[in-house]
Amino acid sequence: MNPDLARLQPYPFERLAKLFSGITPPAALQEISLSIGEPRHATPGFITEEVITHLHGLSNYPVTRGSAALRAAIAGWLVARFALPAGSIDPETMVLPVNGTREALFAFAQCIVDRSKTALVAMPNPFYQIYEGAALLAGAEPYFLNTTRASAYRPDLDAVAREVWQRCQLVYICTPGNPTGAVMPVEQLQQLVRLADEHDFVIASDECYSEIYPDGGSAPVGLLSAAAGMGRTDFRRCMVFHSLSKRSNAPGLRSGFVAGDAALIANFLRYRTYHGCAMPPATQAASRRAWEDEQHVVENRRLYTRKITEVLDILAPLLDVQPPDAGFYLWAHTPGDDTEFARALHAQCNVTVLPGSFLSRPVAGKNPGQGYVRMALVAPPEDCVEAAQRIKAFLIAR
Ligand SMILES: Cc1ncc(COP(=O)(O)O)c(C=O)c1O
Repeated sequence: MNPDLARLQPYPFERLAKLFSGITPPAALQEISLSIGEPRHATPGFITEEVITHLHGLSNYPVTRGSAALRAAIAGWLVARFALPAGSIDPETMVLPVNGTREALFAFAQCIVDRSKTALVAMPNPFYQIYEGAALLAGAEPYFLNTTRASAYRPDLDAVAREVWQRCQLVYICTPGNPTGAVMPVEQLQQLVRLADEHDFVIASDECYSEIYPDGGSAPVGLLSAAAGMGRTDFRRCMVFHSLSKRSNAPGLRSGFVAGDAALIANFLRYRTYHGCAMPPATQAASRRAWEDEQHVVENRRLYTRKITEVLDILAPLLDVQPPDAGFYLWAHTPGDDTEFARALHAQCNVTVLPGSFLSRPVAGKNPGQGYVRMALVAPPEDCVEAAQRIKAFLIAR
């Protein structure tokens, strides 16, 4: 067996199941899960219908680079959404469809890391767990950039030693962040681009929550807009990852894309051709329609904004929790230990939240997720409010 498999950490939900083992929550209370970040708003009907309409395409092998129509729709969306210079995203060379960002984030490290050197792959901490597994299976060492209250929940790029940057081959960022909801400002993204030039590394910007921002608020910037703002429309060393899972409530569609540096895309396409991960034709057709429509995204944002506001109205007077810049998570500071908090909440209220320490690794003996829990406001509004009421009663009773 590949010995690196043994280095993979248990997934947070495995650890959560273990934490809750032996607990029987009150049967009178229906379970409300805030632990898994799986979108649960309805998938727009036109997306489902488009899949059904195109199922006859099963008789052909799809190509790895995807249809020209899908790539054109993606390029058009990127330019409009991130106010990029017209024509700066060439759909032929700068865009690739992927089967959800999860597989692409994982595969990208396998494509980028040069194993002949001792490679570091940097990532935020706490973080989306795939970055670490991708680094380990690519033969690299993960390097954790703590995102704490002191750094406004963003990676502190100034705190990283030169020697570390020198050994870095790939840096994952997540903006808006899972779990903290923090958005990296344009200046910080540009600082990272300058560091990438100086130390010759690639930036993988996971922006899969970019469309879930407060209704009426300003849309988060992304790595491509930051690069374009530096006059860098070849997007050298930059790759962004976008998904329909959160934006369009279609996690089962398994659809997203990567875009950026044409040289990186060419190599990633080569990797993916061998990996064998072309997107099925019906998924491509539905994805194209989804990227071309914004109305359903506006409605989706409205619903998340409503839930975040209503839940915070109930919890903020009792719990140390701020509105996120974007995304659908609340990152709440717990009174006491986060695992104990999650366990007791489950036992007493049948509400599940994810302990922050399950999403992060200790650095210099300190786990930056410790003392936090992540609450995913994915359930229907009335369930989110009911969960908040139960958490309120739980906090008062403590
Ligand atoms: C930060 C982050 N990136 C990527 C993904 C993967 O999303 P998908 O593969 O559905 O595009 C998720 C899913 O929860 C996530 O939270």
